[in-house]
Amino acid sequence: MSRLIAPSILSANFLNLEQDIKMLNESQADWIHLDIMDGVFVPNISFGMPIIQAIRTQTKKPLDVHLMIIEPERYIDTFHEVGADILSVHYEASIHLHRNLQKIRSLGMKSGVVLNPHTPVHVLEDILNETDLVLLMSVNPGFGGQEFIPQTFSKIRKLRKMIDEQNTGTLIEVDGGVSTANASALFEAGADVLVAGNAVFKSNNPIETIAQLKA
Ligand code: DX5
Ligand code: ZN
Repeated sequence: MSRLIAPSILSANFLNLEQDIKMLNESQADWIHLDIMDGVFVPNISFGMPIIQAIRTQTKKPLDVHLMIIEPERYIDTFHEVGADILSVHYEASIHLHRNLQKIRSLGMKSGVVLNPHTPVHVLEDILNETDLVLLMSVNPGFGGQEFIPQTFSKIRKLRKMIDEQNTGTLIEVDGGVSTANASALFEAGADVLVAGNAVFKSNNPIETIAQLKA
């Protein structure tokens, strides 16, 4: 099982993104997590294509794009063009989830499904074979720096069991309220990838914090 860390740019310094990307390049961060919010699916607006494009020129690390937007199918091609490697759509925002995941894979990206805290993992039973990654929200999406929802642990264990039974190799990613206090327990419960925003970017030593989250 992998132990990957994906720092979330939402908490980075937007006045000096280049410096933060350089720091991530030197760190043990595995992926760079990018939160795209439309102000409709979630009560916040973050950033869009130009920022992803700019980051793409400064790093070789995989860009893990988390779409918190309605009708994500309208933008799959565009996020591919600006450099997404992994593209995740919300279950709650996808009327035709199967089609969305197939489209993502057909462009050569890894396909991801995101579940809000209230959505049970069993809804993914018949779609896991189309899914490279399941992103479990451990806060309500929309903002960084929120408190971790403990129920996530039981969702990780249930999902781990489903993935192992179907042997699809799907990765489990956890997003929201991750810190050095819960990271190793999350990996032990069966998570493969942890997103961390505030824990990394509000740290006095982000490189060291990334190493601690991974250890
Ligand atoms: C929340 C985003 C998260 C956020 C996590 O909607 O999906 O990726 O950046 O931030 P922290 O780690 O601060 O909870
Ligand atoms: Zn996210």
